[in-house]
Amino acid sequence: MENKEFYNAKYIYKNEISRSYVDQRKDEIVWEIEENIIKKIISGIPEGNSVMDVPFGTGRFGKIYANAGLITYGVDISKEMLDESISLLGKNLTNINIICGDAERLCFHDNSIDYIFCIRLFHLIPTKIAEKILDEFFRIARKKVIIQVFNVKDMQLKGMIYRMISFFLHKPFSIFSFIKRLGRRFLRLKSKKEANKFDGIQCFSHNNSQLHDIFNKSGFKISEIITIDELYSRLDWIFYPSKLYILSKNDR
Ligand SMILES: C[S@@+](CC[C@H](N)C(=O)[O-])C[C@H]1O[C@@H](n2cnc3c(N)ncnc32)[C@H](O)[C@@H]1O
Repeated sequence: MENKEFYNAKYIYKNEISRSYVDQRKDEIVWEIEENIIKKIISGIPEGNSVMDVPFGTGRFGKIYANAGLITYGVDISKEMLDESISLLGKNLTNINIICGDAERLCFHDNSIDYIFCIRLFHLIPTKIAEKILDEFFRIARKKVIIQVFNVKDMQLKGMIYRMISFFLHKPFSIFSFIKRLGRRFLRLKSKKEANKFDGIQCFSHNNSQLHDIFNKSGFKISEIITIDELYSRLDWIFYPSKLYILSKNDR
């Protein structure tokens, strides 16, 4: 029988996957767009507020939190990813508390953290687990919860081709930067085997109405939805785009 609560992202981010995590992604257009959007959100958070970033992964937003003077808790279940974050963040580790823990059961008191950021997790977990994690976020967050959701359908080849065409029509000169990025990526891939090493990570799809439903069930209301990837924004009616949901607490 299928186990509706199993997902392998909980166990798989180690060894070569954690070591090459940033290198494999840093040239993606969406990587940079995500960082710019997160930077903008953080610029609106007053110094001294607390944030929890879960899953913290390799700590890609750590420097942004540190520069904004936020008290930060970086939580991830993978010790190897956290080790990467420690070596990548270096001196920016001031005010960042790194914690190895499970997003399903977080060791934080009720209403103890101002903001929670959860980027690139929801497409790796079943809807049942997303519900569980949202309940934890509702319990812990004081102000807002920021959640990014990719829809897995967008990662399929057909989706990618549509997205690229729409993007190049929208911004014709971006083709040069795209070719440059692709070239750099190609040079880094030493073998086909290396290129395929992420194939074993399970992905899950939650459509818009499922998401709205589980946000609502946990007690959140959506304050704002930001479309992360410009590539998707014009094809919202065919593919569910990658979005960032800013949630605030409803009284339950
Ligand atoms: C795709 S990475 C995203 C990391 C980071 N947020 C980013 O945007 O680069 C997914 C992360 O989720 C972590 N993870 C998976 N299940 C988890 C859980 N139940 N609790 C905490 N972290 C989890 C993995 O260890 C991995 O670091």
